[in-house]
Amino acid sequence: MSSTSQVTRPPATVSGPGALPVTLMVNGSAKVADLEPRVSLLDALRDHLDLTGTKKGCDAGTCGACTVWVDGRRVLACLTLAISCEGREVTTIEGLAGPGGELHPMQRAFIEHDAFQCGYCTPGQIMSAVALLEEGNAEDDAAIAEYMSGNLCRCAAYPNIREAIRDVRDRSRGDGHAAS
Ligand code: FES
Ligand code: FES
Repeated sequence: MSSTSQVTRPPATVSGPGALPVTLMVNGSAKVADLEPRVSLLDALRDHLDLTGTKKGCDAGTCGACTVWVDGRRVLACLTLAISCEGREVTTIEGLAGPGGELHPMQRAFIEHDAFQCGYCTPGQIMSAVALLEEGNAEDDAAIAEYMSGNLCRCAAYPNIREAIRDVRDRSRGDGHAAS
């Protein structure tokens, strides 16, 4: 007769459903908010941390208006639980400008190329556009369109958005002018 050994596990940690303090590193600063575990990163940013640059469009992962970076990678904040971002670096559109407030080259290019109309999708477009260049997925217009396809623009500013992205891509290569 064989004997079975019992494995003793520590009790599981249960968080919530009530609010508990969550510390988020946002744009280089530690921010603490009392959040229920069900709260999305988008609602945490907008409703608890007063960072309203990140927009809520569909709140269902289909429009891209809520795009932010977590540990340098673009994510949809409406589909990300804030509590899952503890100990990770969150970057929003408010964190893109330089220390003196100077605009990021992509922000300047959006202005120069008239890449928005109402502007509601623009923060998400810009966060995706910068990430796109970092990812190396902006070789041509087809690639730009494909890798920006998660960011919808109801004003259909797509040609100008692609122009802005091409401009920043080409300037970073020293080409000096946009190619198609
Ligand atoms: S608000 Fe997140 S994808 Fe639309
Ligand atoms: S500029 Fe209006 S939705 Fe894109």
